[in-house]
Amino acid sequence: MLDGMTLFRIIAFAGALFVAQAAAAQGPENKDNIAGPYVPTPWAIVDRMLALADIRADDVVYDLGSGDGRLVITAAKRFGARGVGVELQPELVALASEGAKKEGVADRVKFIQGDLFQTDIREATVVTLYLLPQFVTRLVPRFLAELRPGTRIVSHDYPLVPWKPDKDVSMDVPEKEFISGTTWTRLYYYVVPARIRGEWKLVLPKQLARGPLSLEVNQEPHMLGGLVSDGRSEDYLRDFQVLGEKVSFGQLYNGRMMSFEGVVSGETMAGEVKSDAVKGDWSAKRR
Ligand SMILES: C[S@@+](CC[C@H](N)C(=O)[O-])C[C@H]1O[C@@H](n2cnc3c(N)ncnc32)[C@H](O)[C@@H]1O
Repeated sequence: MLDGMTLFRIIAFAGALFVAQAAAAQGPENKDNIAGPYVPTPWAIVDRMLALADIRADDVVYDLGSGDGRLVITAAKRFGARGVGVELQPELVALASEGAKKEGVADRVKFIQGDLFQTDIREATVVTLYLLPQFVTRLVPRFLAELRPGTRIVSHDYPLVPWKPDKDVSMDVPEKEFISGTTWTRLYYYVVPARIRGEWKLVLPKQLARGPLSLEVNQEPHMLGGLVSDGRSEDYLRDFQVLGEKVSFGQLYNGRMMSFEGVVSGETMAGEVKSDAVKGDWSAKRR
C-alpha cells in the first residue's frame, strides 16, 4: 500500500513528464502555459462545483483546461446550459467531443483545442477551473478585466489569490487521497464585481444632503474602499460590498447613518437610501 506522500510524488512526476512533453511539442517559444497535468475532477466534486455555481439553462459554462469535458457536459445535460471546454491536448478534446455526442448534448457544447490563456472567454457566465495554483492566480487580472460583472467562477482546490472568495466549501472525497494525498477538498466561489474604481458624483435626496457629494472608490482584487466628501468633511464607507452589479454600503453624513443599496449600470449607479424615517433614491455618475 502506497502512502499519501508517495502517491503525490508519483502524480507530481507524471505531471512534470506531461509538462515537459507538452512544452516540447509546442516549441521553445511557449513553455510557460502548461497549467497542470490531466487529472479529472471526481464526480462528487463535479456535482458540488455545478451546484455552487447554481447553473441555469441560460448559462454559458467555460471549463478552462477541460480534460474529458465532464464539467461542461454535465452542466449541459443536467441544467440545459451551453458550454465550452478549452483544452491543450487534442486526444482529450476528441474524447470530450465524443462524450458530448454520447450524452446527447453535442448541440449545446463545444470543445476547443487551444491554449486557455489565449482563448476569448468574454461570453462566459460561469467559469470552472482545476489548475495548478500559480496559473489560477495568473488568470485573476484577466477575469476581473474581461468577464462581465455577475459571472461566477468556481475553482477546485486553489483560490484565485489575492481575490477574496465570496464563498468557499470544504468536503471529504475518498478519491482525492490518490490525487493530492488527502481526502480534503476545497472549492472557491467568486462573483465578478462591477468595475467601479474611480471618482463619482453622488446625489442624495435633498433631506439627506443639500448638494452633490464626491465619492472616490478604491477597488482591488483583495480590497474595496470608498471615501465620501462634501468639500468640508470626509467619511469612509462602511460594509462596502459589490456583488456582480449590486452595491451596498453605509455612510455617516451630518451625524446621520445612511444605508445604501443599488445597481451599477456602466457609468452610473442608482438605488435606494434609508436613514431613520427618510427613504429615497440615490444615484452616482462617473466623473
Ligand atoms: C487537472 S486537469 C482538469 C480537467 C477538467 N477541468 C476536470 O476538472 O475534470 C487540467 C487540464 O488542463 C489542461 N491544460 C493545461 N494547460 C492548459 C492550457 N494552457 N490550455 C488549455 N488546457 C490546458 C490539461 O491538459 C488538463 O487536461
